Amino acid sequence: MSRFTPAFQAAYPSTRPRRTRRTAWLRDLVAEHRLSASDLIWPVFVVDGDTCTSSIPSMPGVFRYSIARLVEETGKARDLGIPAVALFPATDPNLKTDDGREAFRPDNLVCRAVRAVKAAVPDIGVICDVALDPYTSHGHDGLLIDGDVANDATLDALCRQAVNQAEAGCDVLAPSDMMDGRVGAIRRALDDGGFSGLAILAYSAKYASAFYGPFRDAVGSSAQLGKGTKKTYQMDPANTDEAIRETALDIAEGADMVMVKPGMPYLDIVRRVKEELRVPTFVYQVSGEYAMLAAASERGWLDRDAVMLESLLAFKRAGADGILTYFARDAASALRRR
Ligand code: PBG
Repeated sequence: MSRFTPAFQAAYPSTRPRRTRRTAWLRDLVAEHRLSASDLIWPVFVVDGDTCTSSIPSMPGVFRYSIARLVEETGKARDLGIPAVALFPATDPNLKTDDGREAFRPDNLVCRAVRAVKAAVPDIGVICDVALDPYTSHGHDGLLIDGDVANDATLDALCRQAVNQAEAGCDVLAPSDMMDGRVGAIRRALDDGGFSGLAILAYSAKYASAFYGPFRDAVGSSAQLGKGTKKTYQMDPANTDEAIRETALDIAEGADMVMVKPGMPYLDIVRRVKEELRVPTFVYQVSGEYAMLAAASERGWLDRDAVMLESLLAFKRAGADGILTYFARDAASALRRR
């Protein structure tokens, strides 16, 4: 800007934006956005058996927990002020089938995990994914017919999975498969099953992203999926208007809360969804985002705590009401230390 433009002339030197940045207390006082533990949802991987933890090479610092360890860890998360956990089962490959029927078994891993957590830590929210990928031998989120995921046949399966998880006692169901009409179908199934108070957090704008790689390692679906892609159901990263249309449809079908995913490469989508649709909006800082920050920090290239908190604050600034992040516990602890 030229120093002769009117705004500049009127402003400087009487106006000096640096004045409010001079001290920590004043920076705090004028801060427009704030991150707190109550903004965070912790995604956790659960595994069967007594072995307490198993590590995930592409997600350093993240573990798959046995149910007993999960109960301990969710108790600690609750004590740190984290309102909810999202559970993801790493299913025994022997239980995976073409039709993913393990998803409907009342005693499957995720249902047992939900019951154990709700019994031991009743005041933490438990969110369950609705999608078949942990259970299918081909690694897709739905039923494969003639080489593609069949929309309407999958809807029935998702409804059965949703009701099964509701019966186990979960608090929120999160359909993550991007089938058309799933939110409405699941809402009706829940209402018919006597679960009209159970909330739906829809993965409404979920992109076909390469940033999900480490998650697929964690739940053991990458081997099954192989070179397969989810581009016929997850969104094209080129689109933004489509995200608004997808999200509006989910709201019309009964979604109580919506989500954008991945997070950092899609901050523009978070902003548009929040501004244009004005509903509780969540964002998922996905496994690949975690992996990038964790790997660079391990090498000493980035300051782990600083990039963690900065990346999470960026979601608040973009308009998110809550954030799913593998950093949830570390972030809640770091915020406490401040
Ligand atoms: C499965 C699901 C995925 C994630 C959450 N639920 C992976 C996928 O769509 O392949 C990704 C989460 C992450 O990368 O952290 N329906």
